[in-house]
Amino acid sequence: MPHQLPNLPYDHAALEPHIDAQTMQIHHSKHHQAYVNGLNAAEEALRAAMEKGDAKAVVKATAALNFHGGGHANHSLFWTIMGPKTGGEPGGDLGAAIKDAFGGFANFKTVFETQATGIQGSGWAWLCWEPTTKSVVIATTANQDNPVKTGLVPLAGIDVWEHAYYLKYQNRRPDYIKAWWNVVAWEKVGQNFQQARG
Ligand SMILES: [Fe+2]
Repeated sequence: MPHQLPNLPYDHAALEPHIDAQTMQIHHSKHHQAYVNGLNAAEEALRAAMEKGDAKAVVKATAALNFHGGGHANHSLFWTIMGPKTGGEPGGDLGAAIKDAFGGFANFKTVFETQATGIQGSGWAWLCWEPTTKSVVIATTANQDNPVKTGLVPLAGIDVWEHAYYLKYQNRRPDYIKAWWNVVAWEKVGQNFQQARG
C-alpha cells in the first residue's frame, strides 16, 4: 500500500507566533508530500530492480529509500511532538531521565541548542532513547537520516532544514530553535519515552 501524507493534528496557524502558518502549510503539504511521493517511487523502483536482478539499480533505489523514507518518518514524528498550548518542561519519568543524563532540563536545552545550531547544512537534532545504556541522549543526523540507523529510538526532533524556518527567521537558526521549545508537546514525548523503554 502506498504511503500517505498524515494529517496535521492541528491548524497551520496553531503554532504561531513561534512557527508561522505559511511555513507550516508549505512544510507539511509540499515538502512532506514530496518525501511521501519519493518514498512510494523508490519502493516501486526497488521492486523493479529486484525483479530484474539489477544490483546497481537496487543500490540506487535503496539510496532514494533512505532519503525519502527518512523524510517521511522524520516529519511524521515532528508534527506529533509539537502542538498548541505546549512547551514548558517534561515531568514524570522523562523529566527524571533528562535530569539523570544532563544534570537538569536547563543544561539539556543548552546542549541540544548547541548541537542543533552546529549542524552543517541540513539535518535534524534529536532526543533519543539509547537502548543499550538505557538512557536518553542527544543525537544529530544529516539530511533526512533517521536515528534508528544507529540503533537509537527517536523521541523528539527538530527539523533544522532551512525550509523549516527561513520564511520567518531567515538566517537566524538559533532564534528558531529557541522558539521551538515553546511548541514541544512534552506529554507526547513522554509517551514516546514510555513506549521506547518498554
Ligand atoms: Fe522538513
